[in-house]
Amino acid sequence: MRWSNLFIPTLREDPADAEVTSHRLLVRAGYIRQLTAGVYSLLPLAQRVRLKVMQIIREEMNRVGGQEFLLPAIHPAEVWKESGRWEVMGDNMFRLRDRKGADMALGMTHEEVFTSIARNAINSYRQLPQVWYQIQTKFRDEARPKSGLLRVREFTMKDAYSFDVDFAGLDKSFQDQYDAYCRIFARCGLKYTAVEASSGAMGGSQSTEFMIRTNAGEDNIVVCEKCGYAANVEKATSKLAPSDDQGGPAAAEEFPTPGVRTIEDLTTFPGGAAADRQIKTLVYMLDESVSLVLMRGDHELNETKLMDASGAINVRPARPEEISEALGASAGSLGAVGVTQSSHPKITRVIADEALLGRRNMTTGANKDDHHLRGVSIDRDIKVDTWASLRSVKAGEECANCGAPLDVFKAVEAGHIFKLGTKYSNSMGARVLTADGQEVPIVMGSYGIGVERVMSAAVELYNDGAGISWPAAIAPFHVVLTPVNIKDQELLGAAERVYDDLQRVGVEALLDDRDERAGVKFTDADLVGVPYRITFGKKIREGKVELFTRLTRESEDVPAESVVEVVRGKIESEIA
Ligand SMILES: Nc1ncnc2c1ncn2[C@@H]1O[C@H](COP(=O)(O)OP(=O)(O)OP(=O)(O)O)[C@@H](O)[C@H]1O
Ligand SMILES: [Mg+2]
Ligand SMILES: [Zn+2]
Repeated sequence: MRWSNLFIPTLREDPADAEVTSHRLLVRAGYIRQLTAGVYSLLPLAQRVRLKVMQIIREEMNRVGGQEFLLPAIHPAEVWKESGRWEVMGDNMFRLRDRKGADMALGMTHEEVFTSIARNAINSYRQLPQVWYQIQTKFRDEARPKSGLLRVREFTMKDAYSFDVDFAGLDKSFQDQYDAYCRIFARCGLKYTAVEASSGAMGGSQSTEFMIRTNAGEDNIVVCEKCGYAANVEKATSKLAPSDDQGGPAAAEEFPTPGVRTIEDLTTFPGGAAADRQIKTLVYMLDESVSLVLMRGDHELNETKLMDASGAINVRPARPEEISEALGASAGSLGAVGVTQSSHPKITRVIADEALLGRRNMTTGANKDDHHLRGVSIDRDIKVDTWASLRSVKAGEECANCGAPLDVFKAVEAGHIFKLGTKYSNSMGARVLTADGQEVPIVMGSYGIGVERVMSAAVELYNDGAGISWPAAIAPFHVVLTPVNIKDQELLGAAERVYDDLQRVGVEALLDDRDERAGVKFTDADLVGVPYRITFGKKIREGKVELFTRLTRESEDVPAESVVEVVRGKIESEIA
């Protein structure tokens, strides 16, 4: 391609609204334009990158036996009602009515539609396993679309689904996808971390997220450099130092705490307690029923863990009036001691974090304004309905496997694979006969990867003050040829010859034939992020060109006659 014919609207200034680097650079370098919040047009350079990412994904899906489908983006409400997700998806689902008044939705994922095909066509174990996938547009009315292409309301997803006769089959299908995902990210040139994850609203058991470490990400991942343990903070655990509770009194003792409102207040109050000797009592609405959530005073609740532990879909902190109605006290003096179904009929359950197991001699609110209780023994004084891991692991805590200190990093989720089990086959009636004639639900897995998110995560990883620096495998072009002056026929002619030769050997070349100053061309090429640049300048008289590597910003002189082979060798070794 010739630059003069390509639409690359680069900007001199950063866009004002861009919060993260990839957003800023993709707009500035002429890849994307926003149409409305969370909805972007991909311009020619971005579409080239997108197609490359899609091709890598497609090859790896095919390699593990995936068969490519294309399902509709517009769905009737019925299939979503069958699975129960018409309600679950809430405001994230774009909904509409057709002219006859029938409810429809824009597809945010495709478990339902794929399952509806499987249940009608697959009835014997002989037809299994199947691995089905598509690369298609998804619509999600995200609460906070932002960060350019990282979180949008319309995007391309590769979603794959596996169908097996039993859980052993699912284990194999899951492992195949795991391996395929590792190859996809490696081939795209992206450093990634595969982490244990929560399965969330999609339902299921084992789940792995493929995370790209970047401060632009909205997830936190917990990583042990020593043993390789890695988990989303929504799932991660750690080993806590043992606590020395030293007996305590025979019964809890109430004491006045005027003005004490927070855990912190009580740490400095005379006769108070250190944060790790306090029980923090939170009041949550779990699907609109009031629950108490107990945490160690210095620990932070993770709401996703609370959802997973309770099975609730809508989780929110209770409002002050809901709290005083249920407990008769206000936040600051809340506690669970003596709270039972008969004493507090509004409270449906008490869920406590495992870090409180067996703790004695603790301090907590007395459920009476300006009063607390000390000498509280959990087992003796509090009726806990559910014990679960509810806290967010913090950096520096000990790895549960090996004891080494854990790190916590910000990351963006680029891919997510999980075992659905029989959730959808049960709710939607997808069953098969086994070899011994029994009817069983099909065992499913679901595997997603966001194409534009991979693209923008790559920009987050590979950029510098001058612009983007694409990994060769997903770069819009491999090499840009820059004659410093196109009016110089010798320079232009040499560039044209190399350009033809590169294309002949399969290297994607962009000839910057614009009548611009060399400085302008270099700046644009750096911004756009093509991995190599060949500059045709005055050294051409000695038969030499300059080869510039975008990532390292190093230049070397190369004989013009061998530059095609040199560049081809570099590209091939990077893409292999
Ligand atoms: N709003 C979005 N914009 C761009 N890509 C997305 C978006 N939501 C999901 N994806 C991509 O689709 C993949 C599979 O979708 P999945 O439903 O597992 O995502 P998710 O758990 O909702 O992601 P997130 O936690 O970031 O909202 C994700 O790993 C991500 O790459
Ligand atoms: Mg989401
Ligand atoms: Zn470890």
